[in-house]
Amino acid sequence: MGSTVNIKSRVFGPPSSTPCTRSHQIGALALIAVTFFATRLLDQSFPSSISSSSFFDGNGYESNIIRFSEDEGSVRWPRRGYGSYISLKIYIYDENEIDGLKQLLYGRDGTISADSCLKGQWGTQVKIHKLLLKSRFRTHKKAEADLFFIPSYVKCVRMMGGLNDKEINQTYVKVLSQMPYFRLSGGRNHIFVFPSGAGAHLFKSWATYINRSIILTPEGDRTDKRDTSAFNTWKDIIIPGNVDDGMTTHGVRLVEPLPLSKRKYLANYLGRAQGKLGRLQLIDLAKQFPHKLESPELKFSGPEKLGKADYFLHLRNAKFCLAPRGESSWTLRFYESFFVECVPVLLSDHAELPFQNVVDYSQVSIKWPSSRIGVQLLEYLESIPDKRIEEMIARGRKLRCLLVYGPDSEACSAFSGILWELQRKTRQFHQSSETFWLHNGSIVNRDLVEFYKWKPPMPLP
Ligand SMILES: *[C@@H]1O[C@H](CO)[C@@H](O)[C@H](O)[C@H]1NC(C)=O
Ligand SMILES: *[C@@H]1O[C@H](CO)[C@@H](O)[C@H](O)[C@H]1NC(C)=O
Ligand SMILES: *[C@@H]1O[C@H](CO)[C@@H](O)[C@H](O)[C@H]1NC(C)=O
Repeated sequence: MGSTVNIKSRVFGPPSSTPCTRSHQIGALALIAVTFFATRLLDQSFPSSISSSSFFDGNGYESNIIRFSEDEGSVRWPRRGYGSYISLKIYIYDENEIDGLKQLLYGRDGTISADSCLKGQWGTQVKIHKLLLKSRFRTHKKAEADLFFIPSYVKCVRMMGGLNDKEINQTYVKVLSQMPYFRLSGGRNHIFVFPSGAGAHLFKSWATYINRSIILTPEGDRTDKRDTSAFNTWKDIIIPGNVDDGMTTHGVRLVEPLPLSKRKYLANYLGRAQGKLGRLQLIDLAKQFPHKLESPELKFSGPEKLGKADYFLHLRNAKFCLAPRGESSWTLRFYESFFVECVPVLLSDHAELPFQNVVDYSQVSIKWPSSRIGVQLLEYLESIPDKRIEEMIARGRKLRCLLVYGPDSEACSAFSGILWELQRKTRQFHQSSETFWLHNGSIVNRDLVEFYKWKPPMPLP
């Protein structure tokens, strides 16, 4: 152990001088078969309660979409591209192992608590870390890891004044320079969470250092203030925003949904205008049609600020919840809608949604051009029969377990969804422009130094 041969032996096994005989082959096949069935029996993502009824009404492509059981809580992932069970080993860097990680987690003075970073729409940066620490897919051995997780709560730390942009950038670079495995793959098997609209831009020099890494972010587009988007459809993973725990709990919810017939409004938008065109147009429209659209001008603070429960009490009182873009294109309101059971109407042209490989969002939501916010939108929404709305809501009720950050013991959770997506990203082999390999499996750097002798600080990028 300790040499790079470990990495290779996972693929090919140790070099063997005995030729591979027929009985060896049969034995190996039997072993594979036993492992396969044992894993299927044990695996929680195959609960017997899974209904054969598809999420969609049978269009011959069922095998490529995710299927939900009748009762909330279990899903079946498609075979294609996912396999039948999760087999993943993720190494999580420890805050004491890498100089600088503690600053990225708790600020320069170490005074920002993880608990204070857990709440709010950016809580995913803490939740995903904590779920991984408890996950059965965690490994403590770097040599056997498929993926590496770099924990950081910088969105929160920055907001609380724990680090400024310059410090964040420099600390990230310092942290990465201590990771030989990052160097080995050029960062390709390293995972970062950036929980806000800024995405990876929170790390100013992201493009130089982590542009090959896997980025978990709710944000697909950040081109409004910068001319480049850090999100890459094929490499990165869109994660659901963090909906308030009081709404996602299995127990009594903070606010329960209302029957459709009891809802006062056709649609609502409850948020601050922030000077954004779409939002201003909605607030204006609500003044013209106060009985159809609820959209008060909300404030950050003071008497006009809605409390948490009040907010959801208003949100549940319409058939449709409008989700216009704000500072960036992703919007928490889209996710919240599923928990008060209104149909989300995306008014954010560049939004990207999670788990698109397997979820058809046209079955549970509406996306309307943001350039057409106006009377036409209200007329259109009014024309949709209640029966259709009920159908969309019923499908959304099944799907929403995928938007809740539960542990990986729950087959249907945002975290399990992310693990399935991560599984698709794993590679057997890693290389970078500064990684080379020899006839005997030794992996070396440009100076022909073997991997296990690489000593930090690593040259970057
Ligand atoms: C980020 O830090 C690195 C290393 O200190 C530095 O070379 C780079 O210029 C910094 N980027 C920005 C935008 O300040
Ligand atoms: C990604 O990083 C590599 C290595 O620094 C650099 O050569 C390349 O230009 C970067 N790509 C982008 C899109 O910034
Ligand atoms: C592989 O070959 C290189 C070059 O001959 C040698 O330096 C290295 O020690 C060898 N590695 C192993 C694991 O035998």
